[in-house]
Amino acid sequence: MASEINSKNVVVLGTGGTIAGTAATAADHTGYTAAQLGVQQLLGAVPGLQDALQGHTLVCEQVAQLDSKDMDHATWQALAVRCAHWLAQPDVRGIVITHGTDTLEETTWFLQTVLAPAKPVVLTCAMRPATALVPDGPQNLLDALTVVRDPLARGVLAVCAGSIHGAREVRKVHPYRLDAFSSGEAGPLGWVEQGQVRWAGRRAPGESAHPNATRALAGAVANWPWVAVLHSHAGADARQVQSLVSAGVKGIVLAGTGNGTVHKALLAALLEAQAKGVTVRLITRCAQGQIVGQPAALQAAPAGLNPYKARISLMLDLLD
Ligand code: SIN
Repeated sequence: MASEINSKNVVVLGTGGTIAGTAATAADHTGYTAAQLGVQQLLGAVPGLQDALQGHTLVCEQVAQLDSKDMDHATWQALAVRCAHWLAQPDVRGIVITHGTDTLEETTWFLQTVLAPAKPVVLTCAMRPATALVPDGPQNLLDALTVVRDPLARGVLAVCAGSIHGAREVRKVHPYRLDAFSSGEAGPLGWVEQGQVRWAGRRAPGESAHPNATRALAGAVANWPWVAVLHSHAGADARQVQSLVSAGVKGIVLAGTGNGTVHKALLAALLEAQAKGVTVRLITRCAQGQIVGQPAALQAAPAGLNPYKARISLMLDLLD
């Protein structure tokens, strides 16, 4: 793949995932190993890529090679730093990132909140390994390359199964089917159809960078504050909170039931944790909607985030 810079560069960063996964047989969609093929190999497997690029040049870089269930803060930081580097090049139009589906929504939100890029950064993925009889990775990658070149694309986006999702809303909603992502009530930002982007008309919210973004990119990730996610549920036990506090947790995102209600055993322990200096944020565990009003004596997390994205935002809030 050509690597010299020209005015039509698109950067493709590989991080692993099922899109780069291989199985022993073409029929195996689940017993594969993620993160086996390099980003150059993924691009090499896209039929008609050069024609579709319409003169744009690709610059490839393998930033990581992992199953995204194992995503960690150091990889996030390295990825964000590489994105910042490439986005600052005037000749770079945008970035495509190949990623596993399992934590794609978290990486998408992390990058949006630390970079808030004006140029597009498009994450894509696959639900089937590259060795499948009919893999979905090549089409998803081609669609992502279409979106990143679209004049209206900006900010961090996710592209899967022909839909374009915004960083705040996107979440994985299915463990197996190809169309595994949803933007919930908001709906997708658009679609890729036959190599053309059709925007839904709704724009991604103009998210600004987190005030601690520079610290997140520069400091040692070992110093990032420990923020845990807990869920309220039948039979919830205060010891979940107490053991986290004893172990030194700095923040807790509590995914409450329904409209942010919290099991009484947990609530008492969370209020005690707050009194000891732990920051607690409340969110709903419901897959759609957000907390309305003030249902518990706990501060709500930013609207529209799921618990795992709220964890990222609280971690950045607590970074010093
Ligand atoms: C991963 O998240 O890296 C593996 C699962 C997937 O990509 O679908």
